[in-house]
Amino acid sequence: MNQQLADRLRFLRAFVANPRQVGAILPTSRLAVRDMLDMADVPGASLVVELGAGTGSQTGEVLARMGPDARLVALEIDPRLAEVLRDRFDDPRLQVVCDSAENLGEHLGGERADVLVCALPFTSLEPGLRRRILQAMPAALGPDGVALVIQYSPLIQSELHRLFTSVRRRISPFNVPPAFLYACRSRPDAG
Ligand SMILES: C[S@@+](CC[C@H](N)C(=O)[O-])C[C@H]1O[C@@H](n2cnc3c(N)ncnc32)[C@H](O)[C@@H]1O
Repeated sequence: MNQQLADRLRFLRAFVANPRQVGAILPTSRLAVRDMLDMADVPGASLVVELGAGTGSQTGEVLARMGPDARLVALEIDPRLAEVLRDRFDDPRLQVVCDSAENLGEHLGGERADVLVCALPFTSLEPGLRRRILQAMPAALGPDGVALVIQYSPLIQSELHRLFTSVRRRISPFNVPPAFLYACRSRPDAG
């Protein structure tokens, strides 16, 4: 079985076991991942954080773009998916953490992230958990950091505007379903 098919089956199994936590039946498409990462300077980042890494569709592309001395901390709440990530990526720059994204600050060793990549299904998460995760995001970023968020609806857009000074939006039409991509910054976006 090829890697893509195996990932899709693992992802589907995780969705069937916990639909609201996984929030999608397919991993993010390669095209949407690329569109999303193009919205930030991943090659220039020292610390990248990923929330809800799943089977690693974004993890692999982040590692491919990151510099040799950079670090990626990937949080995934599902222990089986965290194990898939550990098996799949043999890369010393990657630390897979099996914990909830609301605790992300505890896993950064006192550092702040330059880029945060987030594919959490905010619209299907319990509202208190969603609020705690969203509030933890700007606090985990350095002053020039950027949070990249992918969603399948614009429902959390107003919350992103409340939390960040600058929110840029892009649509990735060929993802299934079409995806809303956000680049959120605490400083005004010069670009
Ligand atoms: C829509 S999937 C995205 C997976 C992958 N990043 C992708 O783009 O294909 C959401 C992922 O977030 C994980 N997740 C859900 N709630 C979480 C939480 N509170 N903390 C960390 N991960 C969580 C799920 O287990 C799932 O793997």
